Amino acid sequence: MAAGRILTGMRPTGPLHLGHYVGALENWLRLQREYECFFLIADYQAFGDHLDEIDRIRRSVFDVTLDWLAVGLDPEASAFVVQGYVPEHAELTLYFSMLTPKSWLDRNPTLKAEIAQIESEHDTITMGFYNYPLSQAADILLPKADLVPVGEDQEPHIELTREIARRFNRAYGETFPEPKSLMGRVPRLLGLDGQAKMSKSLDNAIYLSDDAKTVQRKVRRMVTDITGSHPRLQASDPGVVEYNPVFNYHDVFNPNADEVADLKERYGRGTVSDGEVKDKLVDALNTFLDPIRDRRAGYEAHPDRVAEILEAGSERERKIARETIGEVREKMRLTYTPDALTAPAGKRK
Ligand code: TRP
Repeated sequence: MAAGRILTGMRPTGPLHLGHYVGALENWLRLQREYECFFLIADYQAFGDHLDEIDRIRRSVFDVTLDWLAVGLDPEASAFVVQGYVPEHAELTLYFSMLTPKSWLDRNPTLKAEIAQIESEHDTITMGFYNYPLSQAADILLPKADLVPVGEDQEPHIELTREIARRFNRAYGETFPEPKSLMGRVPRLLGLDGQAKMSKSLDNAIYLSDDAKTVQRKVRRMVTDITGSHPRLQASDPGVVEYNPVFNYHDVFNPNADEVADLKERYGRGTVSDGEVKDKLVDALNTFLDPIRDRRAGYEAHPDRVAEILEAGSERERKIARETIGEVREKMRLTYTPDALTAPAGKRK
């Protein structure tokens, strides 16, 4: 028996990077044997601000699926779901939009920051974008998930999901669980440039699909002093480990703790070059990425198989989605049977 149900997902807006791995995927891999899992490719959510880039989204659906398969998520054990293949996601979003006060979205810190970012680029946001946290609540509650393993920035959306579940249950009777979130081992991986976050839009990422040469090139260009005021000009200059993001990556990705301790010690004393610290990281990262590359190559040669995985996984969720929607319609009394003619014309609540 599974310990419970998981729904989690990503929007298909580009290939996944190391930050996705340690922030989320690593947890998914561990949990896929314990829980019944639904891994969602949130194409509707991507349309909210990228509808004019449909080619990129269509491609990214495959990129994200390949990344998931490459890291070792198992499509037999877990359902890989395309949000748009299960239109019940849209239907539940609509119902939730009628229960949810606008102020609950206005105060959502993740949404607020994203809107500010978009507006600072002199773009306007669409209603679809504004509403996405609510659609995310529908994603999670449609299969009645108990647990949502995600990155740190998603927490406000899971909180909103619990609030909506509570409100629905109070109005219409116990229906939805109040799901918990689960953060990854490294909630926020630094960027190659030392910025607080690794991200595609900041162009400071190593992708799970990068080849060995690309990883080497990117690591060699990494910033080694986040303060910008403690340059280390030669190997004999004593360095400060905490200022150098390369060590942060060693801590996260280099399983050889003795090697890392030795590099740190020599860095502090000024007996190791930046080049050696970086080369050891390149080795560690490529050792980590090699099995991922092998698995990707196996699937990349068979796009039909990948498309089938998405269809089969979506079909699996859809059966449950239909049941939930049936229950919701009944509880909300969105059923036009003749008794509607004789029931007293009351108010909701
Ligand atoms: N917002 C998530 C992201 O940006 C994607 C997502 C959509 C999601 N629906 C979800 C995450 C449901 C967890 C649960 O990647």
